[in-house]
Amino acid sequence: MRDLLMLGTVLAVLVVGGCRQTAEPNEPAWKVLAEGGMSPAQAAQRDAALAAREAMFTELKGRLMEVIGAEGPSAAIAVCAKEAPQIAADTAREHAVSIGRTSFRLRNPKNAPPQWATQLVADRVDKPTYLSDGRTLAVLLPIRLEAQCLMCHGVKEAIPSVVGDAIAKHYPEDQATGFGEGDLRGWFWIEVPAANRR
Ligand code: HEC
Repeated sequence: MRDLLMLGTVLAVLVVGGCRQTAEPNEPAWKVLAEGGMSPAQAAQRDAALAAREAMFTELKGRLMEVIGAEGPSAAIAVCAKEAPQIAADTAREHAVSIGRTSFRLRNPKNAPPQWATQLVADRVDKPTYLSDGRTLAVLLPIRLEAQCLMCHGVKEAIPSVVGDAIAKHYPEDQATGFGEGDLRGWFWIEVPAANRR
């Protein structure tokens, strides 16, 4: 009898799991949501994600422009290296979310995408994308390159040599140059936990 049960289980696993790549047993199953198909709770999570992105973007840009103005762009690289992760951590705490930036061409390898975003990043999805695992809302929001980003992310000729040197020193594995204005540069990713914690 136990053998039969065991056989049944093995068969069920083969039938159910055989035709697709099975996820790790404890990996949550993320599903892409249509924006129109969100529940009111998910829409509230989306709004929380957008607010966190706005706060982090404003803070980052403000600090960047401040330091470039006061100390020059090569100093801004060092500041960015230290402050960008700190700004992300502060925003996460204040907004009760997880947040970061990622790209298909990274400057900092620590900005690799979370697991749920890996395929979307590889596909270079260029519109806001929302996913749910049944509780958490995960959000991927494209970032496009603007004129003021070129001195650090543009083509070689657009990057002053002091900046290039500072990048090489802090980010020996840098891949984040060669972008033009309007190009997809990367994404903000945000994870918003379910609001009704019980
Ligand atoms: C003063 C130079 C500088 C400027 C200007 C600048 N960046 Fe960056 N950027 C950096 C540095 C340094 C990092 C790595 C930060 C880190 O260690 O997390 C970075 C990282 C990023 C990342 C995270 C992914 C990765 O490659 O690690 C994105 C996305 C990004 N920048 C987009 C932009 C955009 C968009 C602009 C313009 C609004 C911009 N940057 C302007 C220096 C700059």
